[in-house]
Amino acid sequence: MDLGAGNQKLRKYIPDNCDYVPVDCTDKLANTFVVDFNDEFRLPEGKFDVIVSLGFVEYLVDLDDFMDKLSTHSDGTFFLFTYAYFKDNPGKGKFKKLNKLRTFDEVQEKFSNYLEDLRPILHLKKAALFSGTLTSKRTNKPTLTKSLNDSLPLPKFRDYLFTRR
Ligand SMILES: C[S@@+](CC[C@H](N)C(=O)[O-])C[C@H]1O[C@@H](n2cnc3c(N)ncnc32)[C@H](O)[C@@H]1O
Repeated sequence: MDLGAGNQKLRKYIPDNCDYVPVDCTDKLANTFVVDFNDEFRLPEGKFDVIVSLGFVEYLVDLDDFMDKLSTHSDGTFFLFTYAYFKDNPGKGKFKKLNKLRTFDEVQEKFSNYLEDLRPILHLKKAALFSGTLTSKRTNKPTLTKSLNDSLPLPKFRDYLFTRR
């Protein structure tokens, strides 16, 4: 399940033998499950192996309420998400980017409430990619492990990430 799927860029990376379920507040592409999470919490039926959120949670007005509901609803599900922690242009439309958390540590602290095994996969200057397992237990214990930064020459890797092909 891809939350805030937008134009479903992720779909092409999903193997044919996996179902891909896009969720967004606008039906930019067919088959999108449409819901505005600032108005209500509703998800497609079924149990998902992985929930992905890329460039989406920064838009939520009440991130705690959303994560509380998501982690309770999908307790035990693997969650992969990005967060961009800088002040950004919020955009002009109805759905504004808020980026309320401004540092890597703030993001880590916030999401530790809702995820076990919170792991920064990649930690860049202004954004990070994390994984973890959604949990309804509120232990708030960060369980951070090493990220790719510890094992890769980051400047080179960052150039690679931001190079358009
Ligand atoms: C920056 S785009 C990311 C799109 C896609 N995940 C990607 O990586 O290319 C953010 C997406 O979140 C969706 N979105 C923003 N606010 C939302 C809300 N309140 N409820 C549901 N979707 C929302 C937007 O419509 C948009 O498609």
